[in-house]
Amino acid sequence: MSKKVYICTYGCQMNKYDSELLLGLLRGGGYDLAESETEADLILVNTCSVREHAERRALGRLRQLVNLKKDKPGMLVGVYGCMAQRYGEKLFEEVHGLDVVAGPDAFPYMLDILNKAGESRQTCTLLGDFVGTGMKPHRLGNKLTAWSAITRGCNNYCSYCIVPYVRGRERSRPLEDILQEVQNAVQNGVREITFLGQNVNSYHDGRHDFADLLYAANVISGLWRIRFATSHPKDLSDKLIEAIATNHKVCEHIHLPVQSGSDRVLGLMNRGYSRKNYLDLVKRIKSALPEVALTTDLITGFPSESELDFQETIDLMYRVEFSGAFTFKYSPRPGTRAAGLPNDVPEIIKVQRLERMIKVQQELAEIFSKNLLGTTQEVMFEEKSPRNPRHVRGRARNGKIVEVDSHLVKIGEVWQVSINATQTWVLFGNAIKKIEE
Ligand code: SAH
Ligand code: SF4
Ligand code: F3S
Repeated sequence: MSKKVYICTYGCQMNKYDSELLLGLLRGGGYDLAESETEADLILVNTCSVREHAERRALGRLRQLVNLKKDKPGMLVGVYGCMAQRYGEKLFEEVHGLDVVAGPDAFPYMLDILNKAGESRQTCTLLGDFVGTGMKPHRLGNKLTAWSAITRGCNNYCSYCIVPYVRGRERSRPLEDILQEVQNAVQNGVREITFLGQNVNSYHDGRHDFADLLYAANVISGLWRIRFATSHPKDLSDKLIEAIATNHKVCEHIHLPVQSGSDRVLGLMNRGYSRKNYLDLVKRIKSALPEVALTTDLITGFPSESELDFQETIDLMYRVEFSGAFTFKYSPRPGTRAAGLPNDVPEIIKVQRLERMIKVQQELAEIFSKNLLGTTQEVMFEEKSPRNPRHVRGRARNGKIVEVDSHLVKIGEVWQVSINATQTWVLFGNAIKKIEE
């Protein structure tokens, strides 16, 4: 009988994609997918180190999972990804009963490691030039959308961020290999691809840059939509803006993390742009892509952030009119440069600023939605609405969720939808015309 694997995933989209790569690899190595933890012979927890909270949650889960071994001798539990890279063998002391610790570049060694894991604890924390060439993900989630990692690692060393330490140096995957993966996905029914990287804008495989990849992916027949994340503002060139505007399949949504609106804080964060640079860039994007939705990441409570610095962030949010934002309280990550600065914004102030930011973002998201009232949006329908089984929902090109009440619309179709009601995060409308691709 073949062994069964269960993977639970914390962290970013890259980690979710990596879990799919792991499942693909393990299936090729004779494993089947387990429906639940209790049914599994092997449990892997794919982990994130970006904030302390993410680490604590994963540790809690791991401690629960190793307990399952009492009822199931021979079961293996492993920790994969960024936390494994960061703590290495120390995790065996933190979580008694753990069998495997494998960092995010351990893919090529995983089957071997797992074969040996029954006999002794296994650790692999090599970081190298792994880009995933030739690997085949086993996709979870809906059948219409898929991820594809185009770069791994990061060279930017934002002062607060652990990612460069746990993911290693930035490397790009060969263009041909990415296109092959997209083509395979399309043959399996995928219609929308999201290119992933810590900074997709700096993609370069030695011969092609990210704009080249967009042009090449745009002509893949059967592929309808192209998305990407994340864009670092310092590397979003005019050439790239033009590529986004020119290639019809590339959706009008850019996730453009700003982190702070204060030049002083941006400098301390080592982000490589000023408030003015960012606002100028936004102006250029909006003039090339009038319908664009801009989303962002924001950190509050960075060392020495004053009320005035914070107000500059709020002011920038209003100026850009973000359609959405992920907002975070600063979490010091030992080993990073910012961890050497005094973590001097009191917790209560961090919490209050975070709440203020969230309120502003809700206000802006509502305005963004309201402005779409009466417009026609192209929507690719992905699933039934979780709130109303008669409704189907999908995404507009700008990333907004759109719901319609129609028995004519089927999942997997693209329709023109006229928007007649809006909530902060969801739009409602009438499906008026099906688009034949
Ligand atoms: N590569 C992406 C982001 C990766 S991490 C980029 O540069 O945009 C995702 C987000 O987590 C970051 O954009 C940042 O807002 C947040 N983040 C990273 N380190 C953090 C820390 N130490 N404390 C709080 N938030 C952090
Ligand atoms: Fe972290 Fe900055 Fe790299 Fe993003 S660009 S992963 S925030 S170091
Ligand atoms: Fe977390 Fe690693 Fe992604 S630290 S955010 S899972 S790259």
